[in-house]
Amino acid sequence: MNVNYEAALEVLAQHRQTHVLRFYAELPESSQQKLLEQIRLMNWEQLEAALAHSAFGQAPASLSSSLNSTASPTDLSVDPFADLAPIEGYDWEAFSPEEQRFYEEKGWQLLKTGKVGAVVVAGGQGSRLGHSGPKGTFDIGLPSHKSLFQLQAERLMNLSSRAGSTIPWYIMTSPDNHIETLRFFLEANYFGYDRKSCMFVKQGVMPAVDGAGRILLAAKDEISLAPSGNGECFAVLHREGALADMQRRGVDWLFYYNVDNALIQVADPKFVGVAAHFNHPIATKVVDKASPEEKVGIICMNKNRPAVIEYTDLPEPLMHKRDDQGKLVYGLGNISIHVFRRDWIEQQLGSDLPYHKAHKKIKHINEQGHEVESDQPDGYKFETLIFDYFPRASEITVLRMKREGEFAPVKNKTGIDSPESARQLMYNLHRSWLQQAGVPLDQFQEPVEISPLISYSGEGLGGE
Ligand code: UTP
Repeated sequence: MNVNYEAALEVLAQHRQTHVLRFYAELPESSQQKLLEQIRLMNWEQLEAALAHSAFGQAPASLSSSLNSTASPTDLSVDPFADLAPIEGYDWEAFSPEEQRFYEEKGWQLLKTGKVGAVVVAGGQGSRLGHSGPKGTFDIGLPSHKSLFQLQAERLMNLSSRAGSTIPWYIMTSPDNHIETLRFFLEANYFGYDRKSCMFVKQGVMPAVDGAGRILLAAKDEISLAPSGNGECFAVLHREGALADMQRRGVDWLFYYNVDNALIQVADPKFVGVAAHFNHPIATKVVDKASPEEKVGIICMNKNRPAVIEYTDLPEPLMHKRDDQGKLVYGLGNISIHVFRRDWIEQQLGSDLPYHKAHKKIKHINEQGHEVESDQPDGYKFETLIFDYFPRASEITVLRMKREGEFAPVKNKTGIDSPESARQLMYNLHRSWLQQAGVPLDQFQEPVEISPLISYSGEGLGGE
């Protein structure tokens, strides 16, 4: 046995993970070296912190406000929801037409002067959707067969050409899907986007573990690694030079969104205008939850700080609690559309977010060395979450929008939040645009798909 092996075994023993070397003796030398190198390069302190924070073997305590809490996340005597309160927000529909024009014009001014950038977090594995490539490459089955990335690129191009200034677009990938994402953009000639205004930034990974916190093996010579969550976004933008790029270009506001919302109004001038007017470090777009049980987090106040509580954490009585008018008290759904002030992002660098454990389907090998691919979640990965930054801002701007124009998540293969439901939401929206434009709808059979190059949010369709 060589010295590297001894060192690896020692580290693994310290962290109760010696099973990682279970198949070592039967491996060819190159595989042995590969595995030892992986063990050597692993950030073991980070893994220990993640295991401790995620309370393996105890009740989950994944709550964003735990950042500001002095209580240990595993301290079950503390009710993490004792100080929950609804959050105040603005309702776009309740603004007067003059106010709406004012905010939208403000957004356009910022777009015209190049003050706005966009970042899409596209490093996830999309395990529920089951698409083998990067999620942004997914074709949801529109008549045009445009991928999610193409829809986003075209919306950004629409705004950029009307603003006379190209919006810088940052695309966060993972080691798993980076090359494939790059290839997709290259083969599509960036969908016509100015390639000098696109920047790909690669996030990091964390080991995946089983229910007892033991590292899973992807192969006999390989630890199973999974991207470590969208909360890494700021650190990755910094590490990969994107924040410096924004500084150079004079970008003051960063529009953040998920790759899998088919209706995403990327860099929406209305929202950007509202965010900049109130000038809080964070602005977030929200929609009313479709039902108390909808699988989205809610935005609220917790211990006097803005917070997002995941649907998995919100206790049933709070989930269903209604006010005198019958409205859900905690009904503002987080749809992962935020605007961050760049200077505030820079202030956050260097302080870590907690890891949450996420129960996922993870392809791995079992103790006998056989490959296991379950159709149910069978392992855990560790993720930091972007909304864990929320309690760090003393105030945030909350803007409630009509759901129909904003949110069509593509999470599952079929049923709720699937390609089919997203398609239908887009057809409904585009029909409503034509209706508003006075187009006689009986001329149009379903489905109606309007290219983002023609209309970003329903404008320009009535010959006005
Ligand atoms: P989800 O939580 O929906 O995860 O990500 P996912 O990986 O896409 O899908 P499932 O849960 O495996 O089915 C929300 C957003 O955060 C991004 C995703 O790409 C998506 O846009 N994300 C998630 C990252 O960029 N990196 C990660 O490590 C995790």
